[in-house]
Amino acid sequence: MRSYTVSGRTRRPILPEDPDGLAAQLKHLLIGQPEAIDTVVPYIQMHQAGLAPEGRPIGVVLLLGPTGTGKTRTVEALAEVLHGSSKNLLKVDCGEFQMEHEVAKLIGAPPGYLGHRETQPMLTQAKVNAAASDKSDVSLVLFDEIEKAAPSMTRLLLGILDKATLRLGDNATVNFERSLIFLTSNLGAKSIQRANRPDFGFEAMVPLEATGGDSSVLHRIGMAAVRRKFSPEFVNRIDSIITYKPLDRQACEIILDQIFAGFLRLVHNRLGLRAFRLQCTVAGRNLLLDSGTSIEFGARELKRTVQRNFIQPVAALVAQKQVLPGSTVILDAKDGEFNILLRH
Ligand SMILES: Nc1ncnc2c1ncn2[C@@H]1O[C@H](COP(=O)(O)OP(=O)(O)OP(=O)(O)O)[C@@H](O)[C@H]1O
Ligand SMILES: [Mg+2]
Repeated sequence: MRSYTVSGRTRRPILPEDPDGLAAQLKHLLIGQPEAIDTVVPYIQMHQAGLAPEGRPIGVVLLLGPTGTGKTRTVEALAEVLHGSSKNLLKVDCGEFQMEHEVAKLIGAPPGYLGHRETQPMLTQAKVNAAASDKSDVSLVLFDEIEKAAPSMTRLLLGILDKATLRLGDNATVNFERSLIFLTSNLGAKSIQRANRPDFGFEAMVPLEATGGDSSVLHRIGMAAVRRKFSPEFVNRIDSIITYKPLDRQACEIILDQIFAGFLRLVHNRLGLRAFRLQCTVAGRNLLLDSGTSIEFGARELKRTVQRNFIQPVAALVAQKQVLPGSTVILDAKDGEFNILLRH
């Protein structure tokens, strides 16, 4: 049985597997980060069972870790399972609120102030409610890349995290009691990369070596960086902190399969009877993985690598009417170069 560390405590799964449950569905969408799933799902279940504490958000979860390891994907995958669409969430890109005056865009200016009419607040009750759906009343609220926000934004967040309320410029309040709040950050990511690969560069993914993938080491590194950046009041209002591990090769292979499956669905939906088959040789797969994944960017570049080296060349062949319905397009590689083969 697996055991792992969340927020410094060791937790073991204590429930039997539920093959149709939220966790099982998420496992197909979020690869190689089981701690994230096991940490997040109980908050939803507590809410669904009516056992979530009152006067607070459903949960406040900080997702820490290197680029391209699935932090944002976690929230999108949850939206997909809960609401039927990965876009059904309220996302605040904190990078857009680096200056103090920009934070007013979130709450709107008070009446009578310059710009009151122009600054429609970004965080209104209507927007929070719109993040829920007929399938679930949980609004997923994502504050992405929180370390980039101006300090006044973290002060504003204190009220949301603690009392589940935000007071807008016009004095209206927004209620976050049915919101599950996610904060993401890369804080500590550089040190996590160094701990895993002291000589890290642009190599393809390798299994975690130096730490042996020990999530408690990664967690300590991430937490030290968070404590340096944020006030103790802020850190104390976070219910759970999840540290994302750099993805190993096996996880990247599954993500590549997902990307292929998405592309195949597209071909079948768009082309119908004119559809063709797609295949990839082992050499083709390996070159995609070698060039699309890295310690530095995780799996972030993988989709783009598939697009550039497979999808775009296939699209060119389709445009030139070289791909006949029912034929097979194969991606191969030799001596570090991609090759497209056609079989009629
Ligand atoms: N664990 C994962 N499971 C499935 N797909 C993943 C995973 N990690 C990365 N990906 C793929 O890589 C892309 C980028 O991942 P994501 O946006 O979640 O990265 P992130 O951890 O939020 O990085 P950043 O810190 O740069 O925001 C996703 O859209 C997805 O295609
Ligand atoms: Mg992200």
